[in-house]
Amino acid sequence: MSNNNEMIDGFRASASYINAHRNKIFVVLLSGEALADDNLKNIVCDLSLLHSLGVKLVLVHGARPQITQALEKQGLQSRYHRNRRITEAECIETIKQTVGALSVTLESMFTRGLSGTPMHDADIRLCRGNFVTAKPLGIHDGIDFQYTGQVRKIQNGAIAQLLSNNNIVLLSNLGYSLTGEIFNLSAEEIATKVAIALNAEKLILMIPSEGVMDDEGKLIASLTEEDAKFHANRLAEKDDAESNCIRHALLAALRAYSNNVHRSHLISYRSNGSLLQELFTREGNGSLLSSDSFDKLRNAVINDVTGILSLIKPLEENGTLVERSRERLETEIDNFVVIELEGITIACAALYPISVECGELACIAIDPHYFNNGFGDRLLAHIEKIAKEKSLNKLFVLTTVAAHWFLERGFVEVDVAMLPEERQALYNFQRKSKVLKKDLN
Ligand SMILES: CC(C)(COP(=O)(O)OP(=O)(O)OC[C@H]1O[C@@H](n2cnc3c(N)ncnc32)[C@H](O)[C@@H]1OP(=O)(O)O)[C@@H](O)C(=O)NCCC(=O)NCCS
Repeated sequence: MSNNNEMIDGFRASASYINAHRNKIFVVLLSGEALADDNLKNIVCDLSLLHSLGVKLVLVHGARPQITQALEKQGLQSRYHRNRRITEAECIETIKQTVGALSVTLESMFTRGLSGTPMHDADIRLCRGNFVTAKPLGIHDGIDFQYTGQVRKIQNGAIAQLLSNNNIVLLSNLGYSLTGEIFNLSAEEIATKVAIALNAEKLILMIPSEGVMDDEGKLIASLTEEDAKFHANRLAEKDDAESNCIRHALLAALRAYSNNVHRSHLISYRSNGSLLQELFTREGNGSLLSSDSFDKLRNAVINDVTGILSLIKPLEENGTLVERSRERLETEIDNFVVIELEGITIACAALYPISVECGELACIAIDPHYFNNGFGDRLLAHIEKIAKEKSLNKLFVLTTVAAHWFLERGFVEVDVAMLPEERQALYNFQRKSKVLKKDLN
């Protein structure tokens, strides 16, 4: 029963994300390592689900480890310079076969729809084509990269048309030159340039770790541009394949970011369901590089009740906030302001008048994904502005866990007796909340 309820609650809570993602273009990079992982079948299921929910998907796959392995089998050595493979003429046939086989395998996986499987009746069409025009990378430091190429042009019109006809577009790391030659490109470069050319909503980079980790191994859920640059530089000092992969993903995300792709997610290809958790839950499950200049701070309306409820529910459950029923929230919605990002409520706060001169700031809550991005400060400044407009000269707040946050923002701790009588009468002595006050004049 409780599992059932969890499923129902979870499904309901994902509704706002389903609406927000519908008809948006997501470009997903599946590195060769991701294709070799046992979790690939689950990723394919989750991508199929995204497609069924109306997300327009472009998948870009790499083939680095598979190419290395295939060349080794042929007795051909892979040579590298500046971390890029030098693709010699004698390798191109093996590369063609290896990459082609991976594309075909993916196609077959998206076609599987046996009864009783998650993809039953999904009827998914994957389209491939010559959508990436390439040119040679050229000669650097006196080294000719030969058939290692770079993107010259993305046929974004053709891709967009296929997407609008309800197809998933599949690209590999191969591109074709105007002279008809095949070039071996970096899948990260293709994914980034496709995302930019299509003005995609998101670039999703599947990486080996849960996301970007700090020095103590803690996940960094939300990255600013500066954070991403810092961690890319930090990872450059490490020598292992995993750090290198995350660094490349960060660099791709940064490139996309500075070309108007406002959201890049770095998500684990190893962990089952990470894609769904990152895209459809508040907690997420990866790292997001995003520009927060696209959020909206505004007065709440009745349609925000569901979003506010799912934002504050975990905080009510752990006792940080006092429980509010849907009915109460509906009645009090005019007291609330929200910050909305991508159609999702990521922060809220309320101002309750207590008397003609005092108000109470309540229910300030930020989605943990977006902690430490200044959203709390912005909400507080906004609530203070509204309070002043209402000619209130004192703002109270009652809190059990965030007293210091308020103290650092000009509040002082006061005795419960300092609360206006009408509010004192409602004070819950069991919660033992601290009472803080700020003079607004
Ligand atoms: C408290 C809260 C609103 C802060 O929001 P935020 O958007 O992360 O805050 P900002 O980005 O504006 O400020 C971040 C700074 O506050 C600090 N901070 C965050 N929570 C804190 C807390 N509980 N106590 C002290 N400082 C805190 C951060 O460490 C950071 O400081 P730093 O940059 O010096 O490290 C948010 O953590 C939250 O929603 N908490 C749960 C709900 C709650 O406790 N509400 C208050 C009761 S009404």
